[in-house]
This record gives sequence, structure tokens and C-alpha cells, in this order.
Amino acid sequence: MINSNEIFKKAVIEKYAIPQFNITNLEWIKYILEKCEELKSPVILGASEGAIKYMGGYNVVYSIVNAMIKDLNIRIPVVLHLDHGTSVDSCKKAIDAGFTSVMIDSSKNILEENIRITKEVVEYALKRNVSIEAEVGSIGGIEDNISANIRYADVNECIKFVEETGVTSLAPALGTVHGFYKGELNIDFERMKKIKESVKVPLVLHGGTGVNDYLIKESVNIGISKINIDTELKSAWNEAVRNFIGVNKTEYDPRKIISSGEEAIKNVIDKKINLFGSKNKA
Ligand code: 13P
Repeated sequence: MINSNEIFKKAVIEKYAIPQFNITNLEWIKYILEKCEELKSPVILGASEGAIKYMGGYNVVYSIVNAMIKDLNIRIPVVLHLDHGTSVDSCKKAIDAGFTSVMIDSSKNILEENIRITKEVVEYALKRNVSIEAEVGSIGGIEDNISANIRYADVNECIKFVEETGVTSLAPALGTVHGFYKGELNIDFERMKKIKESVKVPLVLHGGTGVNDYLIKESVNIGISKINIDTELKSAWNEAVRNFIGVNKTEYDPRKIISSGEEAIKNVIDKKINLFGSKNKA
């Protein structure tokens, strides 16, 4: 496993986006690694605090990913990344367990506080060769069927934030939200361009689910170097498994039930990697 700085260099120069696929369990890790290996795409495995808790803890997640890379003979570059770490402590736990990248998300705080907390993580992470992503503005979510809590990133705040913290990548809020879009999606491309021109670190787009192909391509053209996908994998798996159970009413083997969603997950991965341009870039 490597940190994300190494794969970002090539992505920035050649203008494609590295996929971050969020992991949920052992099967997700296996399907993502297998498909990315087949397509020769570098990959960032994103683990949220919730997913880490679900799987048993930071060490469990690191151990599964590490062992899977070995046993499946995975050759592509793989980054294990803490997604939306909510505290310095959480980032330190991930780093100590062997994660090669962390996101500290202190974006709910005012800028000065966001800078202070992020700096603490940067100091700890850099000494251990771990890359650090952080958020400026606030990427929203879906609440009551509408996009909620978006606070677009301010260009000057982004410049100040990157300079003062030393983060190695930046996730500015540009209009995307986590989850499926119910209301209108309004990506601010002008703002994206200005931020891209003003900061030196690679830019990350969160909330990749449900963003149409045209908008993704436009984002990659402007210079987004990493796009996060979570909900779309879960949703594709969910639909396939419901169909399977509906037809195979007497099946009780969890291996057959869980893996009935494998193809659906791999199809989403295939589509995203072709769209992001990261195929054959490993
Ligand atoms: P989606 O759930 O919209 O795919 O967003 C994922 C994400 O940004 C994780 O940080």
C-alpha cells in the first residue's frame, strides 16, 4: 500500500481522476480490488468511521486489505484512506493501524478552527509518510429529500487553508452532496476553476454518486484528481440482491446471497473507471 501523493502526481499531469471507492465489508474490498486490478486502475479504498466500526476496528480493516492484496496477488497501487475522519484521535488511530492516507473533516467549524485541527493531523501524518485530505466549505447531504447544508468553498479560504495547514489534497465544497440527488445539482465550475488555479495540491470531488457523465467529464477536464463513490455501489448491490432473493426464495447460504451483488458492484466500478480515465494508469 502507498499514500495518495504518489498516484496523484501522474493523475494531475495526465488529467484523469483516481477513484475512491468506499468499502463496507470484506466482500466490497475483494470486488473493488479484483475489478481495479483487471482494469489496471490505481484505487483509493475509502473507509468511513462508521464502516470501520462495522468491520471491527482500524486494525481489522488494515489487516483485511493488506492480506487481500497479498492473497489475491494485487499489483495495482492501493491506498487505504480514512474517509471523513471527525477528530484528530480518529486520524491517529487510522495512521497507527497502517492506513496510508487520512481525511480530517473539521469543515463544520469556522476556518481558523478547521486550520488548527487539520494542522495537528498534518504534523502527525507527514512524519509517518501518510497523505492528508481536508475539506473547506461544507459538502452537504440529503435531508428530507433535498440537498442540505451545502456551504460552497471560498477561493481565498482555500488558498489560506492549504498554505497554513500543509494538506496534501483538498476537497472544496462545490455543490455536490453525499447520496442520491433529489433536488437540483448545482456544481459551481467557475469556482472549481479558480480554486484549481489558486492552490497547488490535487483537488477531490466528494459525492460522486448520481453526478452525470457530462458533469464528471467537465470536472476532470478542469482538474479534479480524485472522485469519491459510495452510495452507488451500495445501491447497485442492494438492487441485485433483492432480485436474487426474490427469485431464489429458499436460498439461505449467505455467500450466495451476498455475492449475488458482485457483478452489479463490478459494473459500477467499470463504468466509473472508464469515465474518470484511470483505466490502464496503474
Ligand atoms: P456518494 O455517497 O455520493 O457516492 O459520496 C461518497 C463520498 O463522497 C464519500 O466521501
